[in-house]
Amino acid sequence: MSVWCQGMRKPIVAANWKMNGSLELCEHFTGNLVRPDYADVWIFPTALHLGSLTDSLRDTEIATGAQNVWCEPNGAYTGEISATMVATLGAQLALVGHSERRASFGDSDEVVAKKFKSITDAGLKPVLCVGETLEERESGLAFEAVERQLNVVEEAWDRPVYLHEAIAYEPVWAIGTGKAATAEIAQEMHALIRNHVDGNGSGESQALRILYGGSVKAVNAPELIAQEDIDGFLVGGASLDVNEFNQICEAMKS
Ligand code: 13P
Repeated sequence: MSVWCQGMRKPIVAANWKMNGSLELCEHFTGNLVRPDYADVWIFPTALHLGSLTDSLRDTEIATGAQNVWCEPNGAYTGEISATMVATLGAQLALVGHSERRASFGDSDEVVAKKFKSITDAGLKPVLCVGETLEERESGLAFEAVERQLNVVEEAWDRPVYLHEAIAYEPVWAIGTGKAATAEIAQEMHALIRNHVDGNGSGESQALRILYGGSVKAVNAPELIAQEDIDGFLVGGASLDVNEFNQICEAMKS
């Protein structure tokens, strides 16, 4: 991919801070972030820091979002926050279906579909995360697993699902392991995902931005972003270091 121009899929570099960060990190990050005009930058801090980060980025092109929301707009759900609340803060996005939520917090495919709907109902843009486990990859079932995750959301939601939103492909075996997918493996899955979306007849597959996530760093970003169907990254660990994050953004130029 070369430097972005109108008509191309503009790259996205998204930071998923997971359960990390502080008000100090928010300040340090916003103060030192190089704000590229050739890539969209999205930041997903903890829910605790979302309001303050969103306020400090209000007059910029940088978008913020929640890492997780519950399915309902309000009610007796102790400890949860809703997509409506996130929208009220001025944030624009929400992750849904991250494998850490699926594996550690019981987010089934059905819960993911409900959360997806609540996010779009609230006027936020969902970033649907999909990805296979190591076991699924080793048994040759990687695409089946990803396709199942896509199908459940599509079946539960009857409008063109992905328009203007992004999908993040994050193979579980590459998350936090330091072992990113090779460019070939990632490209192959991204092309399969685009082809799958093409098959849903909404005509949006070419505009859809598909992000790769899993041990992305400044060192492997250039090779990954050079792949035809990789449109950016969802970065975990490396996004906590603003200098590393800036270098990943820089790779979007190449
Ligand atoms: P790492 O970049 O730490 O592997 O995490 C990826 C991820 O889960 C982003 O959502």
